[in-house]
Parts: sequence; structure tokens; C-alpha cells
Amino acid sequence: MGQAKKRPSPSEIKHRVLDDIRFLRSWVEKPLQIGAVAPSSPQLARLMASYVDPHATGAVLELGPGTGVVTKAILDRGVAPGRVVSVEYNEDFCKLLRNRFPGVHFIHGDAYNARHAVQAAFPEPLSAVVSSLPLFTRPMPQRVRLLDEAFAMLAPGAPFIQFSYALVPPVPHGAGAFELERTNWVVMNLPPARVWVYRRPA
Ligand SMILES: C[S@@+](CC[C@H](N)C(=O)[O-])C[C@H]1O[C@@H](n2cnc3c(N)ncnc32)[C@H](O)[C@@H]1O
Repeated sequence: MGQAKKRPSPSEIKHRVLDDIRFLRSWVEKPLQIGAVAPSSPQLARLMASYVDPHATGAVLELGPGTGVVTKAILDRGVAPGRVVSVEYNEDFCKLLRNRFPGVHFIHGDAYNARHAVQAAFPEPLSAVVSSLPLFTRPMPQRVRLLDEAFAMLAPGAPFIQFSYALVPPVPHGAGAFELERTNWVVMNLPPARVWVYRRPA
């Protein structure tokens, strides 16, 4: 028999509606920076987090946490808050996240220039990078550079996990030395999205 689906409590529903409003407001102000009209669905966030190994020793780096749906999925996966470092550009989101996820190391800054700050806090190789950045708003050389910087921080073979709404990968095959895997579409998301997993083998 299938497991009964847990219904969200009234306070969870209120929480989600408030996050939707915050998100939409930020999108109206800075559409290219936010890159989505609504937070990702829990289904998409869980799929991203499923590629994180909770037993690996290195920290998990999150890029573009927004209001924290993916952060929550990473923690629910079994990663301790003290092993998560997360970089967010939007100051209001950062304040919200620090209240919502005590113990997670939030850096208010630019994910494209965060290597120094990340490695100052977590010098050991990372076990995963989980990115929700709207990469398609950036030129290809910047996307490739972001991926290269991530691989320089990641343990060999560890994943760089990215979602997008596009048919094509944000960094295509052949643009660097990596292996690329993609998931099926997550239709329970607005709009439907898929997850791309990049790895640079040892
Ligand atoms: C598409 S939203 C995703 C938010 C959340 N992870 C989710 O899935 O609902 C992208 C997030 O990346 C943040 N962001 C965009 N550019 C950034 C940058 N250069 N550095 C850090 N965060 C950035 C935005 O402020 C926003 O919170």
C-alpha cells in the first residue's frame, strides 16, 4: 500500500503564500536577478537534493537560495546545518534565511565571485554545489567560469547540481571537461523544470 501524502499544515500554507508574495515582489523589482516568478516547488527542491550525498564529509555549497525551499530540502536530506554554506545576493532574502535556518552559513554576496569567502569558511573540498542561479541571464563565458570555479572547490567526481526551465543545458556538452546528466521534467513546478548534474571525474 502507498504511503499517505502529508497535507501541509495551515501555518505551512501561510508561510508558502508569504514566500510567493516576497518572490513576486523581488521579481518585479529585478526580474533578471531573480529569474523566476515563484519559488521552486518542494518536488523540484527534493529532486535537486537527492543528488547530495549526506554521508560525504565536505560541506554543501548552495547558490541562490531565495526563500529557502532548496536549503530546506538539503537539510531534510540529512546534511547538518553547520555543513551548509549558501550565497544569496538579495539582502532581504538573506535576513529571512538567517532566521529560518539557524546554523547554516549564509553569505550575502555575488555567487560569481564567492570562492574566496566560501573557502575562508570551508577550506576542505566540497561534497556538492546546488545552484538555482538563473544562469541563462548570463553570457556563456561567465557560466563556464562559474562551473570551473565550482569544480576547483569540489571533491573529484562530486556534483554541481543546477535546475533550469530550458530544453538545453545551461552549459552545453563540450564547453568544458565534465560529464553531464539530466533528469526528466518536474511538471509539479511553475514552469516545469529539469535538473542538470555536472561532474568532473577524478
Ligand atoms: C530562481 S531563484 C531560486 C530561489 C530558490 N533557490 C528556489 O529554488 O526557489 C534565484 C535566486 O538566485 C539569487 N541570485 C541571482 N543572482 C545571484 C548572484 N549573482 N549571487 C547570489 N545569488 C543570486 C536570486 O536573488 C534568487 O534568490
